Amino acid sequence: KPAGQDSANTGAAGGGTITMGFSQVGAESGWRSANTKSIQESAKDAGIDLKFSDAQQKQENQIKAIRSFIQQKVDVIAFSPVVESGWDTVLKEAKDAGIPVILTDRAVDSADKSLYRTFIGSDFVEEGRKAGRWLVEQYKDAAEDINIVELQGTTGSAPANDRKAGFEEIIAENPKLKVIASQTGDFTRAKGKEVMQAFLKAHKDIDVLYAHNDDMALGAIQAIEAAGLKPGEDIVIISVDAVKDGMQAAADGKINFIVECNPLLGPQLMEAVKAVVEGKEVEPRIVTNETTFTSEEAKAALPTREY
Ligand code: AHR
Repeated sequence: KPAGQDSANTGAAGGGTITMGFSQVGAESGWRSANTKSIQESAKDAGIDLKFSDAQQKQENQIKAIRSFIQQKVDVIAFSPVVESGWDTVLKEAKDAGIPVILTDRAVDSADKSLYRTFIGSDFVEEGRKAGRWLVEQYKDAAEDINIVELQGTTGSAPANDRKAGFEEIIAENPKLKVIASQTGDFTRAKGKEVMQAFLKAHKDIDVLYAHNDDMALGAIQAIEAAGLKPGEDIVIISVDAVKDGMQAAADGKINFIVECNPLLGPQLMEAVKAVVEGKEVEPRIVTNETTFTSEEAKAALPTREY
């Protein structure tokens, strides 16, 4: 067991109830609601006492929550960091207090990997690449420029940084694929709609929308329809997540391609929490398995979609 990483609460170490403090990003999207439900239900099933805190998309609230978990001497702290940078100080405080930290969903950019025990979540760069690969294939014979607008997730967040990078890496293969505008929609429907309205005003020739999540794509669809255009036809739409509302829009032909991002991280998180408390080694990186959906595939998958 690494030094300073023993469980702080001797109750759990002695086989009693494990207490976990969890700091959630917020409730910004359908994905997030499914993720929160998964964590709450799996904690209950695993008999783990969960102290849940919603940061409303603010890093300062997450830092406050983590400090309060340290004061309460929880056994484990888990959190999904809203942005990548600025965590070293508070993570060091947890380490000094002997409380292990598990990252879930989003990563931190700390150079010191001993500040957390494992990171459970998707490969966001690969998600961006999957979106890019589909687009490259669609437009492989394009004779003219294809104008793409991009709705980015929360500025500075791992999924926004990585989905952008992965997508850019792949579309660079075809110089006809051009990102003509790129702005944050903060992963919300309201912002997705607002930014898409601005894109439509500024650019008369948008061919493709790449949205970093379904909620922003759904907001953008409202703006596209209000402008008298047909989403999925006049403007090809790619998004990420594959939550029910997104899948419905894909089945309706309004979203052309969705890259799945699995929010059901609760069971894996509880397993890791138990292992860490028992002093077992855990893999430093646990990647979630994910797929993609075309409109046809979304139609077929929708009836059994869990979230
Ligand atoms: O970190 C995962 C991302 O956060 C999801 O793709 C998005 O919908 C959520 O807000």
